[in-house]
Amino acid sequence: MGAVTTEKRGNIAVLSIDNPPVNALGAAVRSSLAEEIQAALDDAATGALVITGAGRMFSGGADIQEFGKERPAGVPSLPEVITAIEGASKPVIAAIHGVAAGGGLEISLGCHWRLAAPGARLGLPEVTLGIIPGAGGTQRLPRLIGVEAALEAIVAGNLMPSEKAHALGIVDEISGNDLVADAVAFAEKLVAAGTPPRRTGELEDRIAEARGKPEIFEKFRQGMARRARGFEAPFACVDSIEAAVNLPFAEGLANEREIFARLVASDQSKAQRHVFFAEREVAKIPDVPKDTPTQPIESAAIIGAGTMGGGIAMNFANVGIPVTVIEVDADALEKGLEVTRKNYASTVAKGRLSQDDMDKRMGLIAGSTDYGDVADADIVIEAAFEDMPLKKEIFQRLDQTCKAETIITSNTSSLDIDEIAAATGRPEKVMGTHFFSPANVMRLAENVRGAETSKDTIATVMDLSKAIGKVGVLVGICDGFVGNRMLYAYTRQAGFLLEEGALPEQVDKVIYDFGLPMGPYAMADLAGIDVGWRVRQAQEPTRPKHLRYSDIADRIYEMDRYGQKTQAGWYRYEKGSRAPIPDPEIEKLIVSVSEELGIERRAIGDQEILERCMYPMINEGAKILEEGLALRALDIDIIWIYGFGFPRYRGGPMFYADLVGADKIYDAMSRLYDEHGEWLKPAPLLEKLAKEGKGFGDL
Ligand code: CAA
Repeated sequence: MGAVTTEKRGNIAVLSIDNPPVNALGAAVRSSLAEEIQAALDDAATGALVITGAGRMFSGGADIQEFGKERPAGVPSLPEVITAIEGASKPVIAAIHGVAAGGGLEISLGCHWRLAAPGARLGLPEVTLGIIPGAGGTQRLPRLIGVEAALEAIVAGNLMPSEKAHALGIVDEISGNDLVADAVAFAEKLVAAGTPPRRTGELEDRIAEARGKPEIFEKFRQGMARRARGFEAPFACVDSIEAAVNLPFAEGLANEREIFARLVASDQSKAQRHVFFAEREVAKIPDVPKDTPTQPIESAAIIGAGTMGGGIAMNFANVGIPVTVIEVDADALEKGLEVTRKNYASTVAKGRLSQDDMDKRMGLIAGSTDYGDVADADIVIEAAFEDMPLKKEIFQRLDQTCKAETIITSNTSSLDIDEIAAATGRPEKVMGTHFFSPANVMRLAENVRGAETSKDTIATVMDLSKAIGKVGVLVGICDGFVGNRMLYAYTRQAGFLLEEGALPEQVDKVIYDFGLPMGPYAMADLAGIDVGWRVRQAQEPTRPKHLRYSDIADRIYEMDRYGQKTQAGWYRYEKGSRAPIPDPEIEKLIVSVSEELGIERRAIGDQEILERCMYPMINEGAKILEEGLALRALDIDIIWIYGFGFPRYRGGPMFYADLVGADKIYDAMSRLYDEHGEWLKPAPLLEKLAKEGKGFGDL
C-alpha cells in the first residue's frame, strides 16, 4: 500500500495521506500523492477529487528530517505536486481535520476549495524553523486573505483554529458533521453544476489592493523589528509576500523557492530545526520509559509566597489547578498574594486576560499560614529562602503532614536535593523543580533528580511541567545545576574582561548583538546586585581557591547600588525608566580596580569579548555532560533557550559550539587556561571532540 490511498465514493475520488504520526510529506508521500492524483484525473469515471489525511490530522507539513538531504531521483518536489493539484482539470477539494501545517496547508491552498472540521488548526509555521513557506504559501495565502492578514499569519507562524481560517477566507466551509462525507457532497455539487476549478494562483483581487503600496511592507517591517531581532526568516517572509504582489504568479513562486533554498541551507534554519527536535527530545528520559506510571496532580501547594512562590502558584492557577500558598504569618501572606494580584491585573490592563479569567485564577489560589492545609495536596513545592537547615526543617514538617502519595519538591537553585530528601521518610518522592525568574513568565523548569527519586516521581513531575506550560528538563545535582553553573562561568569571565580593559556597556552590547535579551551587567542590575552578592557569600565557604572572581560587583554592592531597584548598579537609571545609562563613577571604579591589580588596561575587541563569554560557558557545558548532569547536549540548549533567552536561531550554546567547531573552542580554551589557570582548563570531552573532529551533536 502506498503512502496515499484512494477510495472511490461514487464519482468522487477520496485520496488519504497516510504517514503516521503527522502525515509528513516525505518523498514516499509526494510520489504516491502525485501518482494517485494523476490516476484520478485519468479516470473518466471520476468527476472530482477530495484530499484528506488518514489518522489524527491532515498533514504536519514537509518532512523536516529530509531538509538538507538530496531529493531522490524521480521524486517530485512539493511545489511540483501542488502545481499539479492546482492545474488539475477536475475540482480538487481539501478536507482538513486535526492540523494542516506548513506544506500541509500549502497543499490545501493548491486545492480549489477547502472544507475544515471544527477546531482543526491551520497555519504556516515555517518561520519558526528559520525558513519561509516554500511550496507557494507566501504566494497563495495573500491571494486568498489579502496582504495584511497574510503578513500577520506567515510572520507569526501560529496555527489558527478553522473558525478563524473560515472568517479570513482560507477555509470555504466548516464541516457540520462527517468531514469527508461533507467534502464528497460538496464535490458532487460542483460536478453536477459543472463548476470549473477555482485556482488560487489566478486570484488577483486581494493582492491588487496592495500593489504600488510599498509602505504597507515597510510599516510591517518596522513593526516587527524588535520582536524579530536577529532572525532572518521573518524578514524573508515579508520580502516573499511583497514579491507576490509585484511579480506574476509563476515568477513569485520561483522567487519564493530561491529564498526557501537559501534559508534552508542557513545556520539559522539548522539551529531552529535542531531546537524543534530538541524540544520534543527533552521529554524523553532513557531510563524512564513512556509507560512509566504517573500520579494525577489535581491540587498543589507552595511553601513561600515570595517572588518565586507567587510566580509558581500562578502557573497552576493558569491551568485550573487549585493551589494553596503557605507563609509564616498573615502579613507576609497578604503581601505575597497582593503581588500576584497585581501581576494578573497588569495582564488584564494590557488586554491579554479578561477580568473574569483573572478572578477565576485568583479564586484558585488560597492562602494559609497553617501547614495542615497542605496535607491533601498532590504536590508541594517549597520556595523558601536558600538556607539548608530551614529547608530540612520544612521538608521534615511536610513529610509528617502530607498524605503518603504527596510529591515534595524544592525550588532551590543551588542546594543539594539529596541532603534535603534525607530529612524525609520519602526520598523517592522528593526532587528539585527549579523555576526561573519571573516564574510565571520564564518557561524553563530544571527538574532535579535525586539519588533516590523514583521513576514514577520523575515521570509525574516531567508531565506536570508540560501541563503547567513549562518546558521541563531533567538534570542532576551540582552547584547551580546546569543553567546557573554555566552562567557563573560566563559572568566570571565577563568580570575579568572589565579588569583587563572593557566596560560594562561594551560587554553588554556584544552579548545583546549576539542575540541574548541583555548582557551580564544589565541582567545583574535587573536581578539585583544584592541577590548576586548573597549567592557569592553562600558559595564562599566551598569555593575552591582557583575559582577567583572579580570583586567589582561586591564593591558596587558595598556602595549600596543594588541595580534597577535603587536606580543605580552597574549603570544608573532615570526615575521610572529601565534604560541603563553608563555611569562615569562605575568606570572610575573599574579603572581603579585594574590599577590595584597592576593590570595595564587595553582595548578589547568585540570578538574577544564574545569568545571569552561563550567558550568558558560551553566548556562548563562539556564538563556537565561528562559528569552526566545533563542527559544530552540538546538538554543544555533547551535550558539556555527557555531559561536565559539564548537566541533560538543559534540553537543553544552547545549547538552553537558545533557551528563554531570544537577544535576552535578547544584552542581558545587552551590559551585561556595558559593565561588564567586551572578553572579554565579545557574539559576532556571538548578535547576529545576537537581531536576526533566531532561535535556535541555527535555524542
Ligand atoms: N517533519 C518530521 N517530523 C515531524 C514533523 C515534520 N513536519 N512534525 C512532527 N514531527 C514528528 C515529531 O518530531 C515527533 O516525533 P517523535 O515522536 O519522534 O518525537 C512526532 O512527529 C509527533 O510530533 P508532535 O509530538 O509535535 O505531535 P503533536 O500532535 O503535538 O503536534 C504538529 C503536531 C502540530 C504537526 C507538530 O508536530 C508540529 O508543529 N510539527 C511541525 C509543523 C511544521 O513546522 N511544519 C512545517 C514544515 S516545513 C514545510 O512544510 C516547508 C515547506 O513549505 C515545503
